[in-house]
Amino acid sequence: MSEIREIKSTRSEIVLSLHSHIRGLGLDSNMEPKPVAGGLVGQIEARKAAGVVVDLIRQGKMTGKGILFVGPPGTGKTALAVAIARELGEDTPFVAIDGAEIYSAEIKKTEVLMRAVRKAIGVKVRELRKVYEGVVKNIKIGFVKHPFNPYARIPGEARITLETKDDSITISVGEEITSQLVQLRIKRGDHIWIDAETGIVHKVGRVKGVEEAKYYDIDSTRIEEEMPSGPVKRDKEIVRVFTFNDLDLYVASQRFSITSLFGVELEKEIDEDVRKSVNSMVKKWLEEGKGEIVPGVLFIDDAHLLDLEAFSFLTKVLESEFSPILILATNRGVTRIRGTDIEAPHGIPLDLLDRLLIIPVKPYTREEIKQIILIRAEEEEVQLSKEGLERLADIGANHSLRYAVQLLRPAYIIAERRKHQEITPEDIEEASKLFIDTKQSVKLIKQFEEQFMK
Ligand SMILES: Nc1ncnc2c1ncn2[C@@H]1O[C@H](COP(=O)(O)OP(=O)(O)O)[C@@H](O)[C@H]1O
Ligand SMILES: [Mg+2]
Repeated sequence: MSEIREIKSTRSEIVLSLHSHIRGLGLDSNMEPKPVAGGLVGQIEARKAAGVVVDLIRQGKMTGKGILFVGPPGTGKTALAVAIARELGEDTPFVAIDGAEIYSAEIKKTEVLMRAVRKAIGVKVRELRKVYEGVVKNIKIGFVKHPFNPYARIPGEARITLETKDDSITISVGEEITSQLVQLRIKRGDHIWIDAETGIVHKVGRVKGVEEAKYYDIDSTRIEEEMPSGPVKRDKEIVRVFTFNDLDLYVASQRFSITSLFGVELEKEIDEDVRKSVNSMVKKWLEEGKGEIVPGVLFIDDAHLLDLEAFSFLTKVLESEFSPILILATNRGVTRIRGTDIEAPHGIPLDLLDRLLIIPVKPYTREEIKQIILIRAEEEEVQLSKEGLERLADIGANHSLRYAVQLLRPAYIIAERRKHQEITPEDIEEASKLFIDTKQSVKLIKQFEEQFMK
């Protein structure tokens, strides 16, 4: 049996945290970008183009096509990819990988890509389940002796009365449900539902004003004003979003007869059979109206680092029936396609390039850089002095925006240690001595290399 281990792939989360201030493209009702909106500043033309892309996606006219953001580092290529995903809705999956990431020692390149692709497509599934739902009117928990420890008592069975505006049912439940009731500390006044088939108990909230129920001034439970209505025993629609990758892992794990593998990745490749059966399962759900596809964004940064095999894989993905929204980014002009002598615009083969809408992004003015830094400072909840902001804007203009944004956190920690209320230019100076930008770090290594060569 194959060994299954978790591989931490948190790149998407890291990317999202660097861009957490971005809420959307910041467009008005005519799809025109507002100067500062949705967490975005400037880059008006590119945002307008991205807005058109969102329209095309919504109309289903982007199938078979992708997007390429082209521009120097720190001009918001990743930020705009995140903004497109946000604009498409909160459920939209966003997966970010770097071109270099596919050259992993353990997994085939196309497998890395395939996984990223399948993480970036969601399936919203509707399920009707038989449940008992209502407000707890009465609950009696019977305790029994622990089978091995005569001094301990454990929950045995329970009798529970659930009520709605229109109905009231008393049920008795066995040990498994009882122990959940105890763990969730279910009491009079709680709004709960119990899945009739699986016996899983869910606590929804607490309803105000139930007789003989106790209420506290501070309570983390959601308070509801009204009793639920309708019958206690009912069909409940449950909506869940899975990614294709979740389903692949689930089906694969069943074949390995290892249960509950959600959130765990297979180190080994996933069988093509598994993916085929997931696809046909999803297709069945779609036909039966039980499911709905939620296309997400697959963002590939430094796309010039991909090779021919990867590019032709992506071209095929664009043609396939289930495909995410593919967004590539690069800061290269004409360059060699990796692993070949062929020169191509952005190092991307023409047959893929033909399918990409290219959106250029341009460097920011100092004023725009200032505004972006201010938005980030607010997002990270750090206090920045006026002079500090000017200093960071200089760094943003002379080094890179990303570097300036990244200095905010360490500068604030230094400021706090020095008992400064806000980040001062000196705190930034200190932070930039401790943490250098990539240009400096590359230069440093070169110097060392030259010394060692002598
Ligand atoms: N127009 C913008 N508005 C707001 N924040 C931006 C904008 N452009 C870039 N940023 C932020 O600046 C930082 C660097 O930008 P990034 O998108 O990583 O640039 P690139 O991907 O082109 O190298 C990120 O934190 C990003 O969210
Ligand atoms: Mg980037």
